[in-house]
Amino acid sequence: MTATRSSGPALAVVGATGAVGAVLLQILSQRADVWGDIRLIASARSAGRRLAVRARESEVLALSDAAFDGLGKGDIALFLTPAEVSARWAPAVTARGAVVVDQSAAFREDREVPLVVPEVNGHAVRNRPRGIVAGPDCVTAVMIAALGALHAEYCLADLVVSSYQAAGAAGRAGSQTLRRQLSLVAGTTLGEQPGDVRRAVGEDTGPFAAPLALNVVPWSGRLCEGGWSSHELAVRAQTRRLLDLERLPVSVTCVQVPVLTGHSLTVRARFENVVDAGHAREILDAAPGVILVDDPAAGEFPTPADAAGTDPAWVGRVRASLDDPRSLEFFVCADNLRKGAALNAAHIAELIAGEFAEIAL
Ligand SMILES: NC(=O)c1ccc[n+]([C@@H]2O[C@H](COP(=O)([O-])OP(=O)(O)OC[C@H]3O[C@@H](n4cnc5c(N)ncnc54)[C@H](OP(=O)(O)O)[C@@H]3O)[C@@H](O)[C@H]2O)c1
Repeated sequence: MTATRSSGPALAVVGATGAVGAVLLQILSQRADVWGDIRLIASARSAGRRLAVRARESEVLALSDAAFDGLGKGDIALFLTPAEVSARWAPAVTARGAVVVDQSAAFREDREVPLVVPEVNGHAVRNRPRGIVAGPDCVTAVMIAALGALHAEYCLADLVVSSYQAAGAAGRAGSQTLRRQLSLVAGTTLGEQPGDVRRAVGEDTGPFAAPLALNVVPWSGRLCEGGWSSHELAVRAQTRRLLDLERLPVSVTCVQVPVLTGHSLTVRARFENVVDAGHAREILDAAPGVILVDDPAAGEFPTPADAAGTDPAWVGRVRASLDDPRSLEFFVCADNLRKGAALNAAHIAELIAGEFAEIAL
């Protein structure tokens, strides 16, 4: 147990050593501190490492039953781990009475597990029959607050999305792969001849389906029926769930780009009602968790390099579609590790901690 305090729910951070875990620890040190004891857990590989949280060093525990000793009703465990680890261990934690907030894909399709983005459906955390709350994947998380605000005004009828995903979405392995590949191609004339980038970076493309340096890779996830990727189908399913639009037509193309942190999306949203781009900008400007930067004449629009390390989703390039008065086009980007994962998980955990505090009154 680390960073001990006497009051507030205990918080276990499982996956504390990962890409999302590292950001989560920063966030815990930056946001209002509502936590009692915080314990850090990862694989046996990381046991004994010391990490800073709330300005104190804590030792990482190996994931095991014993790592959760003392955790029970009124406490929370965040799972920032691969889906198979969450699937195996989350039930062991809920059996002790603690609530699990899982940021992996393990429970996102489970109807007894609410899928939550606090700005969109924060009320849903209270209905958790399995004692588990899930956060969405990083692509859905980037666009959903903006989309939810527009949907509330105009009623979403059809959605077409393309992602420009950062390497960090594939965890530490993704960032390390891109950095390694960039070091191999930097300062060369590679990229001008057929196959020269592939030859330079070698056979090992890490978690990506092709070299990412000096390239874009139109693939993310597993192959599913009809040539869709599992990630594209997941974004579709989660968007429908979060907006409570079970039959919403959604078409997604996921593309990896050579950016370290910060997912970008182009969105074409068709609504049941005619859209006014000026009013849509006002809605986006007022939406929680969204910042509008939209002055192309002044060269002002968001980019992932500006979004990295920040909390909100940044929206720009808001345009009325040329051929359809009911459609709106926009660009949105956000830090995939913060907005797309750690911040969402922290925000959900704070909502649950608030609920515990209400019960205790
Ligand atoms: N990266 C993103 O942008 C993003 C966005 C949304 C959701 N997510 C999801 O969030 C989760 C974490 O992603 P990440 O990017 O942080 O991955 P990561 O960098 O690979 O980190 C994985 C974490 O899980 C731990 N872990 C792995 N196998 C384990 C095991 N068998 N037992 C115990 N701990 C184990 C690792 O511990 P060790 O360090 O000891 O190996 C590490 O702390 C994944 O489910 C991912 O899909 C990621």
